[in-house]
Amino acid sequence: MHTLLVARTVRGLEPLVAEEIGGAVRHRHREVWFRRTVPDAGVLGLRTADDVLLAAAVAGRIGHTKAALTRLRAAAREVDAAAVVALKAAFGGSPEVKGVDVSASFLGRRTFTRYDIEDAVGAELAGRLGVPYHSRRHGPPPPCTLSWRVSVEGDEAVIGLRIADRPLHRRPYKIATVPGTLHPPVAAAMARLAGLERARSVLDPCCGAGTTLIEARASAPSPRYLGADLSPEAVRVAAGNTADADRIGWLVADAGRVPLPAGSVDVVLVNPPWERQVAAGGLLSADHDRLWRELRRVLTPQGRVVALLPDAVEPPGFAVDRAIRLSLMGRHPAIAVLSPPARRGSGR
Ligand SMILES: C[S@@+](CC[C@H](N)C(=O)[O-])C[C@H]1O[C@@H](n2cnc3c(N)ncnc32)[C@H](O)[C@@H]1O
Repeated sequence: MHTLLVARTVRGLEPLVAEEIGGAVRHRHREVWFRRTVPDAGVLGLRTADDVLLAAAVAGRIGHTKAALTRLRAAAREVDAAAVVALKAAFGGSPEVKGVDVSASFLGRRTFTRYDIEDAVGAELAGRLGVPYHSRRHGPPPPCTLSWRVSVEGDEAVIGLRIADRPLHRRPYKIATVPGTLHPPVAAAMARLAGLERARSVLDPCCGAGTTLIEARASAPSPRYLGADLSPEAVRVAAGNTADADRIGWLVADAGRVPLPAGSVDVVLVNPPWERQVAAGGLLSADHDRLWRELRRVLTPQGRVVALLPDAVEPPGFAVDRAIRLSLMGRHPAIAVLSPPARRGSGR
C-alpha cells in the first residue's frame, strides 16, 4: 500500500526537508509530499519538518468562490476517517478519537475565510467519526482532538491528518526558552547544511536556549559541542533543556572574546543577536563585526560557519558558499554557509 504523506515546512526549507525525507513526490508552498509503502514511525523523527500529515484526500477544481466549500465538504465526506485514524496509529500516532479540529490555509484571494473551510470540512469529518467538532473560530481546540489540516494552493486542496499529538516542531526538550529563540526545524536545517559528519568540535557562541546545538547533536552525536552566551540566564536555560549532558557543554562568555584557542573549532552554528528581538551586548554592542573576527580566529583552516542572518549581506572576512532565504514569522532571514575566502578555489 502506498501512503501519501505531507510534510509541512518553513517556507524556503522545502528542498532540505525533501532531502531529509530521502525523496519527494512533489513540493508545494511550505509542503513536501512523499510516499511510504509501509507504515514507518520514523516519519515522526523528521527534524527539518514542522509537521507530518497523512494525506486523506486531494481535491481539484477548488476555485476562488464559495463553491469551493461545497467541493471541500464533498471531499471530506468521501474520506474513510476511521481508516485514516488507524493508519495514524500505524505510523506511531495515538489511536484516541475524542474530537476533531481543523486548521486551514490558502494562497491568493478567495471569497471565503479559513474558518469557512475549517467548519465545512470539520463538521463532515466529525460526523463520520461520531465525535464533537471544535471550531477554531472560538479559540484553540481542547487537547487530544484529532487535528486535521486543509491547505489550498491554486485550484488544489489537500486534507490531511496530523500523525503526532502535537506539531513536530514543538520539541519536548524545549522546556524553557529565551527571547529570539530559534525555530527548531531551522536549527536542524542549519546542522544539516553544516555537514557535521567529520566535525570534531562545534561551537555556538550566542547559544540562547541551546536550540542549534541540541538539534545538531541529535543528528550527529560524535562531535564535542560547546554553547556560550553572554547571559547567565540563557546558559541556565540551555543547560535545563539538555537532560543529558553527553558531549555538550554550556558556559557564560562574550562572543567578542571566545575563551578557546585559535584554530580549535571545526564548525560554528550561530543565530547572532542582530535581530529586533535581541540586542547585541558586551563587546558586540559597539562592534558587531567583532563576532566575525573572533570566529575566524577560532576556526580551523577547513572550518565553516552556518549562520542565520537577517539579510543577505556577506559578513566581513567570510564568503557565502550557499544561502537559503526563508520566510519566518513575517521576516525573511537567510541561512548562510560561510567560509573564509582565502580557502575558496583551493580545491576544498
Ligand atoms: C537570537 S538569540 C540566540 C537564540 C538561540 N539560537 C536559541 O535558539 O535560543 C541571540 C543570543 O545572543 C546573546 N548575546 C548577545 N550579545 C552577546 C555577546 N556579546 N556574546 C554572547 N552572546 C551574546 C543573547 O543573550 C541571546 O541569547
